[in-house]
Amino acid sequence: MCVCVYVCIWRGWGIGWGRVRDKCEFASTPAFFLVRGWTPQQRMSLQDFLLSLGPSTLMGSVALLLLLCLVSRSFGRATRREPPGPRALPLLGNLLQLDLSRPHQTLYQLSKKYGPVFKVHFGPRKVVVLAGHKTVKEALVGNAEQFGDRDISPIFYDINQGHGILFSNGETWKEMRRFALSTLRDFGMGKRMIEDKIAEECHYLIQKFEDHEGRAFDTSRLANYATSNIISSIVYGSRFDYDDPRFINMVNRVNEVIRLTGSAPIQLYNIFPGLANWIKNRQLLLKQVAMNLRDMTDLIQQLKDTLNPGVCRGFVDCFLLRKQKAVDSGVIDSLYNEKNLLYSLSNLFGAGTDTTATTLRWGLLLMAKYPGIQDQVQQELSMVVGNRRVCVEDRKNLPYVDAVIHEIQRLGNIVPMAVPHKTARDVEFRGYFIEKGTTVFPLLTSVLYDENEWETPHTFNPSHFLDKDGKFIKRDAFMPFSAGRRLCLGEGLAKMEIFLFFTSLLQQFRFTPPPGVGEDELDLTPVVGFTLSPSPHKLCAIPRQ
Ligand code: HEM
Repeated sequence: MCVCVYVCIWRGWGIGWGRVRDKCEFASTPAFFLVRGWTPQQRMSLQDFLLSLGPSTLMGSVALLLLLCLVSRSFGRATRREPPGPRALPLLGNLLQLDLSRPHQTLYQLSKKYGPVFKVHFGPRKVVVLAGHKTVKEALVGNAEQFGDRDISPIFYDINQGHGILFSNGETWKEMRRFALSTLRDFGMGKRMIEDKIAEECHYLIQKFEDHEGRAFDTSRLANYATSNIISSIVYGSRFDYDDPRFINMVNRVNEVIRLTGSAPIQLYNIFPGLANWIKNRQLLLKQVAMNLRDMTDLIQQLKDTLNPGVCRGFVDCFLLRKQKAVDSGVIDSLYNEKNLLYSLSNLFGAGTDTTATTLRWGLLLMAKYPGIQDQVQQELSMVVGNRRVCVEDRKNLPYVDAVIHEIQRLGNIVPMAVPHKTARDVEFRGYFIEKGTTVFPLLTSVLYDENEWETPHTFNPSHFLDKDGKFIKRDAFMPFSAGRRLCLGEGLAKMEIFLFFTSLLQQFRFTPPPGVGEDELDLTPVVGFTLSPSPHKLCAIPRQ
């Protein structure tokens, strides 16, 4: 309003003293909109009034209005209570207090000092951190719309360019998420069809573990291939051989991208995008992404060449048919375009591969570290399932196993800060004002390790999920998949995969540290990338029969 009046007076001055009397030009200025509803007589009177003022009077009025404007703005700000937080330095913000190589830990510590809603400055960028189960739930579920946008940091914009599911907003996100969810459901997420696919993959995985004949090996490669093949079956309609060089490269590149996106230099780039050319990790990362996109484009092309409108082999086929439908009905600018297909595919492959494999690796490592717990898991499996194939239905009869799997996910805490959100509009939350467009970190670490919710938050304790009679209990603060509008799209699939892979492996093998290494020496310190994964280690998978 003030700006408009200012512009109006400025234009009036321009008309009077700049001798710009052309009404047409005035009609195209912002000032015109203020007087648009006025009659020509009223407009002329305003112009006459402005002309009657001397230049110094007008300048004085402008200065006064600007002053009023500034005072009213800062008064407005003073009445809006911002979340507390450590004092920020100009330009650097709180960078000197933040450990960029493990930001979730610094933020967890800061939450103890500043409470459940606080702000920190990553350089000039303000971030509001939400901590603790109640606060995160209240924001993401209770105020789902307001907190439901994705914050797209420079590196994720470079990688996805606003397309796909994970790093998009608005209509693109809505349509791509809806389509992916419904297709994933059609292909059996949470259903029998995918259960058979996972069982088949378990069979290949067990064979590969057997090849090591009880000798110590790193489980990460095989775990990644197995989980990657599940999402591949869903998106492409078929699995890959573990020796397929293209598949190996694609999986390795996903891991590398996840490691690099969480690295300190990339955090620095996100804060100061102007440094782009000096950040070597960015160049490395974009190269890996480009190579994976090229491979995916080839795979899509193969599916296009063999597309049969009567048979949908997977997500890609469904997308291509939907795209064709839009073309046939003359829709231009359809969201079902090549870019959204490629980036949705890349999101599903990336999110579906690393997260589930990492959880599985945490599980096996924790079993080797806590042999007593492994004993109980295997006893229950022997009693309830015996030697037959484990199926999803068994879960309800395996309360101890279920509790162990939940505890692995809780302690593993593999996505410690969720994926950054952004406020979709101005929000009043818990007495604080958070401006539209503010980056928000739902600190999942503080939920999964919430001292008000968990009896022993920092130790591996399956009893967190068992009642006094040994029955499985759900816990509200179990939130590794986040919550609300952006809740993990693959939650159902991931849960089924983790259960079937974990139980099938424990049915077949006893997991132990390598010879000469004690259980105590198995290190639980995570490697920090975009996800938290176990430090490199080897385990022995000793056949049980
Ligand atoms: C143990 C396994 C997994 C964990 C712990 C996990 C966790 C998460 C988390 C924390 C988020 C961010 C939620 C937020 O922004 O608040 C997320 C988002 C997402 N996940 Fe997962 N995830 C897992 C497996 C999967 C799988 C198997 C898929 C593939 C089908 C998948 C696909 C996605 C997608 C597409 C999103 C973006 C959702 C959106 O922005 O709307 N995830 N996941």
